[in-house]
Amino acid sequence: MEIKVVENTKEIQCDVLIVNKFVDELTSNPLINKFAPDTFKGKAGETFLIHTHGEAPSNYVLAVGFGEEQSVDDNIIREGIAKAVKKCAELKAKTIAFDISSNLDFDIPVILGAEIANYHFDKYKTKKEHKISELYISNVTDKVYKAATIAQGLEFARNLANEPASFANPAKLAELACSFEGVEATVYDEAQIREMGMGAYLAVAQGSVNPPKFIHIKYIPEYARRKIAIVGKGLCFDSGGLDIKPAASMLNMKDDMSGAACVLGIMSVIGKLKPHVEVHAIIAACENMPSGSAYKPGDILTAKNGKTIEVDNTDAEGRLTLADALCYACELGVHEVIDIATLTGACMVALGSAASGIMGNNEEFIKDIIKSGEYVGEKFWQLPMWQEYRDNMNSDVADMKNTGSRYGGASAAGMFLKEFVTDDVRWVHLDVAGTAFLEKPQREFSKGASGVGLRTILNYLLSYTLT
Ligand code: BES
Ligand code: MN
Ligand code: ZN
Repeated sequence: MEIKVVENTKEIQCDVLIVNKFVDELTSNPLINKFAPDTFKGKAGETFLIHTHGEAPSNYVLAVGFGEEQSVDDNIIREGIAKAVKKCAELKAKTIAFDISSNLDFDIPVILGAEIANYHFDKYKTKKEHKISELYISNVTDKVYKAATIAQGLEFARNLANEPASFANPAKLAELACSFEGVEATVYDEAQIREMGMGAYLAVAQGSVNPPKFIHIKYIPEYARRKIAIVGKGLCFDSGGLDIKPAASMLNMKDDMSGAACVLGIMSVIGKLKPHVEVHAIIAACENMPSGSAYKPGDILTAKNGKTIEVDNTDAEGRLTLADALCYACELGVHEVIDIATLTGACMVALGSAASGIMGNNEEFIKDIIKSGEYVGEKFWQLPMWQEYRDNMNSDVADMKNTGSRYGGASAAGMFLKEFVTDDVRWVHLDVAGTAFLEKPQREFSKGASGVGLRTILNYLLSYTLT
């Protein structure tokens, strides 16, 4: 939606004016104060709607509860605003305005709440979903621009992950990577990937008619406090390969590039947000398909760092592509690596769609990312990295197998990835298998791709901005 900055939103003719209400406080709106019943306390997420009947410039005023004033935070504001905006959409509103208490630092959660709630993937519907087109806000700060830019990156990521696999194929991801401003992209083709020694990644890709594309996008600001790599799992489709998935499990496997979509979403706006940190985005894009040329159980692969892997199950493909991508990232001499991947059904079983799994080789770094997520409303739950999980992947013929026991699968995948990260690099792994693609609406999100991870990672990268 278009964000318009005006002097005074109270005076704007629009469909709905949204005001906030704290428990035990009056709102800024006399009509709400006069007509709201005692039962409307202003608890977090509570709403109360009135028709103004010409008594105010807007057709409606909608009050949304922010709870107790002293305990309000970004999550309460964002989710409250999202709820209010969904109400406005039900009213078929086209233009809305915000009159939010000016003592709140509200630009970022308000704009993100509104934009997230107003999102539906309807590109292929001939009858479009109702969307709000204009939003009036009264304070001009650089935070409005920042919030709108983050929202734009999030929309990009959600759109891409919602696209069918025949559209969002490796070549398309590569093409998009080359279209961003303020960054420089390099795409390596199959022959170059072979030259770089990425035997694990290539094996996964070899069963598909769509060739792999290895994508490296650089953001190099004039002044950088650190050098960080963000690696996204880019399985444009995961059929399982020869160990093919049953139909129900394959259904949403176009979303197996959600990690890549997140990373691309970040790089689509990083040139505008300009954090003081060097960022390298890395995606080993390919498809996992069964065919006469597909890799087989029992094959022994050599990853970029020379370690050998016996293929136990062709459906544990994400870790193979990430193995080579992580080696590549570490060779860049980065201080930190964050990988994000729809990696294991086991993580989905453990945490559902409420939280993503997080693992890594540095407790402090893990805590920093969890905290960064809390701030934007993305939950990460730490899973253990114990030797037992690694022992299960011992192979008789190679350095390791690509799967271990049926149980503890998310941790096993984490231990597998660890083999490809050098010890001097701080690393976290985000398993978003359960959170990247929602089967039903959840909080401020509609069904489908959530863009999970994007705001957490961007928030972390922006913490390097000196203001
Ligand atoms: N892409 C899947 C994981 C996944 C499952 C993502 C459900 C989103 C929703 C991954 O490649 C996979 O197939 N993992 C296997 C690993 C197993 C063979 C060890 C799994 O989790 O079943
Ligand atoms: Mn798989
Ligand atoms: Zn997969």
